[in-house]
Amino acid sequence: MPFAVVTGASGGIGLALCRLLAARGYGLLLVGRDATRLAAISVELGSDTQPFIADLEREADVAALSTEIANRVRLDLFVCCHGISEPDAVAKSDATALSRQISINLTASMILMAAGVRRMIRQNTGNILCIGSQGAFGGMGDSAAYAASKFGLRGFCLSLIQELRGTGVGLTLVHPGAVDTPMLRHEAAAGGSALNFLNERPMNAEHVATAALKALDAGKSEIILPVWDSLSMRLVSGWPDLLHSLLPTLLRHGEKGRKRYLSRG
Ligand SMILES: NC(=O)c1ccc[n+]([C@@H]2O[C@H](COP(=O)([O-])OP(=O)(O)OC[C@H]3O[C@@H](n4cnc5c(N)ncnc54)[C@H](OP(=O)(O)O)[C@@H]3O)[C@@H](O)[C@H]2O)c1
Repeated sequence: MPFAVVTGASGGIGLALCRLLAARGYGLLLVGRDATRLAAISVELGSDTQPFIADLEREADVAALSTEIANRVRLDLFVCCHGISEPDAVAKSDATALSRQISINLTASMILMAAGVRRMIRQNTGNILCIGSQGAFGGMGDSAAYAASKFGLRGFCLSLIQELRGTGVGLTLVHPGAVDTPMLRHEAAAGGSALNFLNERPMNAEHVATAALKALDAGKSEIILPVWDSLSMRLVSGWPDLLHSLLPTLLRHGEKGRKRYLSRG
């Protein structure tokens, strides 16, 4: 039976991925902080799943999960899908809020992917699936630390992909735009960037999970979702001034999208 470790397993995208992986016959280690929710998910997904309670802001918990990964008899897939977003203007953010988003989204992800890669190189096979963000391309006002964590994650993953050549281990990085999950609902209500709400509707988590596994199966290194955002993301990544010049119009449009999203409940 193939085996996967999934962080963010209790979240919108993580749970959708776990459901698809369980349907493919994977045994799963479900990582998160919410023991009650993970126990319920474990019951839903069946006897080959097991919760692993870890707060990835805590170094000790990241180390414990790294040890768990190192000691697995076999690891076919490590899914890095945890994350937080604490929107606020940089000038209003304290040091704790800024560094927490880097610790959880970037530092813990790097340490855990390193543990996964070490384990998989020993067996000459395996895959990492990392959920990044469109925030890794053009920057997002009022979510600067979140964007910084995702820029960093992209740099780490693209570098790691170079190191993995010839090892038998693959890495697929997925950059979704807005996805209808508790994270997006929090961002909408807490004043996150209106750029999240430019599309008519956010994607649903099942669509993102399905596209992510398709990209993994195809051995793709990096995809942007929805796919029609790929060109605009590549353009604003190369020419951030383009985004800056369009910003007033985009923010006006995005604020309307945010109101529409919040009114749908
Ligand atoms: N939703 C979007 O619009 C969107 C867009 C682009 C990228 N993404 C990325 O997609 C990934 C999944 O996000 P989502 O939308 O599914 O959000 P979500 O529903 O809020 O899920 C977040 C997950 O992260 C886990 N998590 C948060 N803090 C943690 C901590 N300190 N220790 C351990 N686990 C922690 C949560 O588990 P517990 O609460 O159980 O700890 C939960 O399972 C994230 O990397 C996010 O940045 C989301």
